[in-house]
Amino acid sequence: MKTTPYRIAPSILSADFARLGEEVRNVIAAGADWIHFDVMDNHYVPNLTFGPMICQALKPHAKTPAGEAVPIDVHLMVEPVDALAAAFAEAGADLISFHPDASPHAHRSVQAIKAKGVKAGLVFNPAQPLAVLDWLIDDIDLILIMSVNPGFGGQSFIDSALRKVEEARARIDRCGRDIRLEVDGGIKAENIRRVADAGADTFVAGSAIFGQSDYKAVIDRMRGALA
Ligand code: DX5
Ligand code: ZN
Repeated sequence: MKTTPYRIAPSILSADFARLGEEVRNVIAAGADWIHFDVMDNHYVPNLTFGPMICQALKPHAKTPAGEAVPIDVHLMVEPVDALAAAFAEAGADLISFHPDASPHAHRSVQAIKAKGVKAGLVFNPAQPLAVLDWLIDDIDLILIMSVNPGFGGQSFIDSALRKVEEARARIDRCGRDIRLEVDGGIKAENIRRVADAGADTFVAGSAIFGQSDYKAVIDRMRGALA
């Protein structure tokens, strides 16, 4: 049962890297609920982005114009997981998600993130089953379903992700805990409603938001579609 409101999490992967602090402030002023921070290591995925020092530098910018903190949602596309997860916890991440296939001991990785006082999430690639949730759902705060293969922004939404979102929602409802269900890749105002109808409550969008000059207009359109 969904009791919590929808969250929109712009991915700064598609922001202007030369003006990242300003981009974070602008997208929050435009209505972002979370800041999605895509960490790629040129090993687990064939791309390379930013590390904990950038997260730490952006932390003071992750607040509303009224000064309220906006969560930094770190999506680790790295292998191995644990050392970087710890570094991101120190750097001010509020949520840290990792791909369980990138950690030899996913349960230990979840515990290590939570021991730092940070919320922990598991990420599932398009071809990956949810089976590991049989053993980890009682320990996590977030499930992130990839609706593209990780590594790049601007790809097309893979429809089979909707079935996986439905399955994840059923698992969350069965377990009864307050777990966010986030979807990442190819989300725009035109398809966000379908993703919500499948059971998602948190939506990552990179190119759809940062590819337009008026971030607020896009986020408003997304909220309109969700209303
Ligand atoms: C892909 C990243 C996504 C990416 C989404 O590996 O995890 O967060 O930024 O970008 P769009 O919204 O453009 O598909
Ligand atoms: Zn992501």
